Amino acid sequence: MLTIALPKGRIAEETLEIFAEIFGGEFEFESRKLILDIGEFRFLNVRNQDVPTYVEYGSADIGVVGLDVITEKELDIIKLMDMKLGKCKVSIGIKNGDELDWSRPDIKIATKMVNITKDYFAQKAVGVEVIKLYGSIELAPLVGLADAIVDIVETGDTMRENGLKVAEDIMESSAHLIANKNSYYAKKEEILSLYEKINSVVSSRA
Ligand code: PRP
Repeated sequence: MLTIALPKGRIAEETLEIFAEIFGGEFEFESRKLILDIGEFRFLNVRNQDVPTYVEYGSADIGVVGLDVITEKELDIIKLMDMKLGKCKVSIGIKNGDELDWSRPDIKIATKMVNITKDYFAQKAVGVEVIKLYGSIELAPLVGLADAIVDIVETGDTMRENGLKVAEDIMESSAHLIANKNSYYAKKEEILSLYEKINSVVSSRA
């Protein structure tokens, strides 16, 4: 039996489609149900940010989560594979018409991703004040809370529709398959056999 944490929404649906392609049959959460049991698998329907927590504590053996979340949380887990789903970038956004002078001493950056932001600017030896927000990050520069944001850009629509533009890209991200360290050793055969199957679907699509 393998327990698999999936991030609510499109990534969960696309991962379940991969399972349906491998094993046949229907892999779908019933409305509002948080657990889906099918054969040897138990799927958990959790918030994107919470996937690594379930995996790190071993309540899930494996999980699917964005590289951005893995990087932000500096997790003690095993990264198994890039599933090439949910591709996006972590980028710096500023107001259209703005040019940021990184040598300014008082730059404020609003973001959900505090660690990624701090690491990026530390590497560039730029001192910034990082302001933690939990959502609607694009609002911050519009009302003067911050000079710039660091956020996920997928289509670019949210930035565009709010009069922002990408100033720099920090990293590329996509959904990765991760495993709990103990599970990986205790259930190695099961995990590797599933890994092979998922990998063959993912690489046949590339
Ligand atoms: C993310 C991100 C941006 C938006 C980018 O938020 O924070 O706001 O998606 O996507 P786009 O480039 O295609 O417009 P999400 O909708 O995941 O919600 P969240 O703030 O709850 O994480």
